Amino acid sequence: MSKKRILITGAAGQLGRVLTEALRIKYGKENVIATDINSAIEEFGLFEYLDILNIERLKTLIDQYKITEVYHLAAILSANGERNPAFTWNINLNGLLGILNLAVEMNLEKLFFPSTIAVFGNTTPQVNTAQNVPLLPETVYGMSKTSGELWCNYYHKKHGLDVRSIRYPGVIGWQSIPEGGTTDYAVEIYHAALKDQHYTCFLEKDTRLPMIYMPDVIGGTIDLMEAPKESISIRYGYNLSAMSFTPEEIAKSIQKLIPEFTIDYQPDFRQAIAASWSESIDDSQARNDWNWKPKYDLDLMTKDMIANLKK
Ligand code: SER
Repeated sequence: MSKKRILITGAAGQLGRVLTEALRIKYGKENVIATDINSAIEEFGLFEYLDILNIERLKTLIDQYKITEVYHLAAILSANGERNPAFTWNINLNGLLGILNLAVEMNLEKLFFPSTIAVFGNTTPQVNTAQNVPLLPETVYGMSKTSGELWCNYYHKKHGLDVRSIRYPGVIGWQSIPEGGTTDYAVEIYHAALKDQHYTCFLEKDTRLPMIYMPDVIGGTIDLMEAPKESISIRYGYNLSAMSFTPEEIAKSIQKLIPEFTIDYQPDFRQAIAASWSESIDDSQARNDWNWKPKYDLDLMTKDMIANLKK
């Protein structure tokens, strides 16, 4: 096996920024190349401009840096995706197809593809959603990720590609700001609680969604990528669960530390998107296959979020 050299697409995004740093700590700064169309992260280490639709450039970078693994994070999220469906499909699905092809052509050892709870839809049982359920996503983002999962599965079966994937719940972290997602409220609310002691939520107060705290996202992703090949039984997206809560419940959790915090509700188009997703997830396959176990629940996360944002 050659020395591990990682390339990350979408490295300036909510997850990319934190994952890039974690991978650099684990595998060495010189072995992790961040790429994005946003150069804001240039100062932190090896960075290359990359539009993921420019496959020739990606090929050159893989060659130049002797890349062995790609974490393909670049994508447009659920709410932003609805504003430009054709563009979203092109970035999310054609971007992935280009990378899948290159991965086979250039013999990459591993590929990571982030999937999402947005693959679920109104035909999916919403409580304790099992791994294999009817998928009829309501958003272009969800459609592109559902199709992406199928393509990953296909490339594994057809070409033996070692592709691994997780259906992330809504991701919450203090280090970065999400852009254009439906679960973004659960990050915004902490910033608003500290700044204004008030938040106006774009979802209804009782909209329950699966969520996960950033340290669990990073730990889970690296654990999946490090797991022995034989233990990986799913090549589309592993269900992953950490916590589930409503806007009202996260507000109450914040009020335990900031009693003057208040919340009101002005639901917009994102309410229908959230309502089509699952409330809670059965992730027993991830727990069995590669020992997934989250560390953070809602109150632990709130404590850590507020402590870090105060700094
Ligand atoms: N956090 C994403 C979104 O809200 C879901 O994967 O779009």
